[in-house]
Amino acid sequence: MLPQPSLLTERLALRPCSERDVPALVTLAGDPRIAATTGTLPHPYTEAIAHQWLATHAPGWSTGSQAHFAIVDRPRDDLRGVISLRRDGQDTANIGYWIGVPSWGQGLATEACAALIAFGFDHWALSAINGRHLPENPASGRVLLKNGFTLQGRVRALFPIRGGEEELDSYQLTRERWLARLLD
Ligand SMILES: CC(C)(COP(=O)(O)OP(=O)(O)OC[C@H]1O[C@@H](n2cnc3c(N)ncnc32)[C@H](O)[C@@H]1OP(=O)(O)O)[C@@H](O)C(=O)NCCC(=O)NCCS
Repeated sequence: MLPQPSLLTERLALRPCSERDVPALVTLAGDPRIAATTGTLPHPYTEAIAHQWLATHAPGWSTGSQAHFAIVDRPRDDLRGVISLRRDGQDTANIGYWIGVPSWGQGLATEACAALIAFGFDHWALSAINGRHLPENPASGRVLLKNGFTLQGRVRALFPIRGGEEELDSYQLTRERWLARLLD
C-alpha cells in the first residue's frame, strides 16, 4: 500500500491528518454548528476523541476502506476543515466534509471536494461517489451540485449524532459524468 498522498488545489492542500492538528480539530470541530449537520462528529469534541479518530486513519487507509484528509491552506498549513471518502460498496464511496465556521462561504468545501473526487476516481477507480445531507443543510447540497453531483432523492439513514434515523437528500456523481464535465 502506497503512503497516503497530499492533494493540491489552487488555495489548499489536502494532506493526511496528524497529531499536530489536534488543537485546531478540537476548536473547529468542537463548534456545535459543525456537529449539528455532519452526522458523525460527537459533541463536545475533545482531545481524546480527536486522538481516537486519528488512530483509525492508518488502518482505514491501508485497507482502502476510508481516506481522511486535513484541508489546510497553503502555504501556512492552517487547518480549515476535514474531508473524507468512505467505501459504501465494491466500487463506490461516500464523500463527507466539514469546514470550520470562520472559513465558511469562501468556496473551500467546493474546492476540496473537487480534489477528493478526482482522487476517488483516479486512485480508487470508483464508478460513482455518493453524498448526503440533511434537508436543512442546503449549503452542503450546493457543494455537491457545484461538483456535478445529481440529486437522487430523499432517503432515510442512520444519523448517529441525533440518535436515530433521519431523512437525508442523496446525491451521486458517476465516473462517466465526472469525465464528461472534465472534457466540457
Ligand atoms: C456545508 C459546508 C461544508 C460548506 O462549506 P463552505 O466552504 O462554506 O462551502 P462553499 O463556500 O464551497 O459553498 C457553499 C455554497 O452554499 C451556499 N449556501 C450557503 N448557505 C446556504 C443556505 N443557507 N442556503 C442555500 N445555499 C447556501 C453558498 O452560497 C455556496 O454556494 P454558491 O457558491 O453557489 O454561492 C460548511 O457549511 C460546513 O462545514 N457545515 C457544517 C458541517 C456540514 O454540514 N458538513 C456537510 C455534511 S453533509
